[in-house]
Amino acid sequence: MDTYATLVLAGLVLVLFLVVRMTKGERRQAPGPFALPVIGNMHQVNKHAPFKTFMEWSKQYGPVITVYLGLQRVVVLVGYETVKEALVDQAEDFSGRAPAPFAYKATKGFGLLISNGERWRQLRRFTLTTLRDFGMGRKKMESWIQEESKHLVDLLRENQPAPFDPTFFLSRAVSNVICALVFGQRFSYKDAQLLKLLQIISGILKFNSTPRGQLYNIFPRLMDYLPGQHHAIFREVNELRKFSTEKIREHQETLNPDDPRDYIDCFLMRLNEVEKNLVSTEFHHENLTATVLNLFLAGTETTSSTMRYTMMLLIKYPDIQEKMQKEIDNVIGQTRSPTMEDRKSLPFTNAVIHEAQRFLDLVPLNVPHYATKDISFKGYIIPKDTVVIPLLHSVLKSVDQWDNPWTFNPNHFLDHNGNFKLNPAFIPFSSGKRACVGESLARMELFLFLVTLLQHFTFSSPGGPESVDISPEFSSLGNIPRRYQLIAAPR
Ligand code: HEM
Repeated sequence: MDTYATLVLAGLVLVLFLVVRMTKGERRQAPGPFALPVIGNMHQVNKHAPFKTFMEWSKQYGPVITVYLGLQRVVVLVGYETVKEALVDQAEDFSGRAPAPFAYKATKGFGLLISNGERWRQLRRFTLTTLRDFGMGRKKMESWIQEESKHLVDLLRENQPAPFDPTFFLSRAVSNVICALVFGQRFSYKDAQLLKLLQIISGILKFNSTPRGQLYNIFPRLMDYLPGQHHAIFREVNELRKFSTEKIREHQETLNPDDPRDYIDCFLMRLNEVEKNLVSTEFHHENLTATVLNLFLAGTETTSSTMRYTMMLLIKYPDIQEKMQKEIDNVIGQTRSPTMEDRKSLPFTNAVIHEAQRFLDLVPLNVPHYATKDISFKGYIIPKDTVVIPLLHSVLKSVDQWDNPWTFNPNHFLDHNGNFKLNPAFIPFSSGKRACVGESLARMELFLFLVTLLQHFTFSSPGGPESVDISPEFSSLGNIPRRYQLIAAPR
């Protein structure tokens, strides 16, 4: 056979091999829109609401879509069945966390939120156990929140009778709960340092939800050279770091191993144990500082934004507020502090809080995951190093899972007899191995704070319900609720 014939034969064998692989389906990459060099599909994605573009594309390409954001390959998973199949049925495969340049720079590459592999496993197991021991599973946290609710009620009473923006009132109460857990102390609402830190956290999350924030996460090296707001934000992140480092130092000086006070004490005890035994470990200062920042950031703005939004819905729909108050008055009255035990006797109130979380859809894109190896999924191959977005928005607003996903309606969580009914598509905290570690705490806070507030106040808007705009102010990484004015009339 001459050289030419050999080449033709080799070519045919290669084509045959590729056809067999493609028709077998297994090695096929998921479909998606045509991507341009360098920028990929970025020019096509709605910068103010990327999830809307992904939902549109899923109509054409199905529930598993390949998209390029810059040079980064991203697979978007759309719909309840697909998201569940990935996060629950193939939980181990999808437990990786995507590189997040902003968070990486802020925490110097350490901490629970952005880590993978053994580091993540050790930090996650330790954090879940410690949060449980410090009260999520015990009565202690409940009494912290009851106590904090009373402070919040007093603060709102002081503010009479003027309308006010509730943002930093709520975030001060919520952050005090995290401070109790992590630092073992609460701060006075007048503490200027706390208010400054909360303003910083709010600014960081807002920045990450703007197109500029997204751009930083896609082209970090380039952005580091360009002028802009991100430099100021990183300076502020350093203030948060300094605050955490200072608290850790204070804890070290006063640590009593027989009586650990909080998360930091427990971590320091592990760290000291390991230092004595010289074991290779993830329990070191960098991971402690970064995880403290993770808990503080992830635990404050998420929960307080959800509370702010729920109260906004209550002034938009006063009849719903009134019905909650009646239920609470009947079951608890206006003086006794609510407990988590009361939740099952307050089905309507419970349904409203669930529905507010569903309707807000606070983290529509989820916190992106990562394929740390080739993953075989629904007949496709998701290659190693692909970012995976299990689109929470597509589950919380799915027409297949909710009667009327675009309407705020507590009946989504009630059966015909008015009993509370959970829907498995309620996953605002995500699902599977990487799901939010603060879920129980956040749910406890939402319930206890909101019930206490409704026992003491009736809320309204100075401009009346029609003036309340419940659409988000930003809709990128997070659906950030608008600021608004609130009147809190004592009952
Ligand atoms: C309404 C409140 C909250 C919402 C909606 C929320 C939502 C989420 C979501 C969607 C994720 C990503 C899950 C995934 O990757 O699949 C997450 C992760 C996380 N959340 Fe929350 N969260 C809330 C409150 C909290 C609180 C109170 C804390 C702290 C105690 C917290 C700490 C974290 C941490 C540390 C992670 C990373 C877990 C990991 O990577 O393994 N969150 N949260």
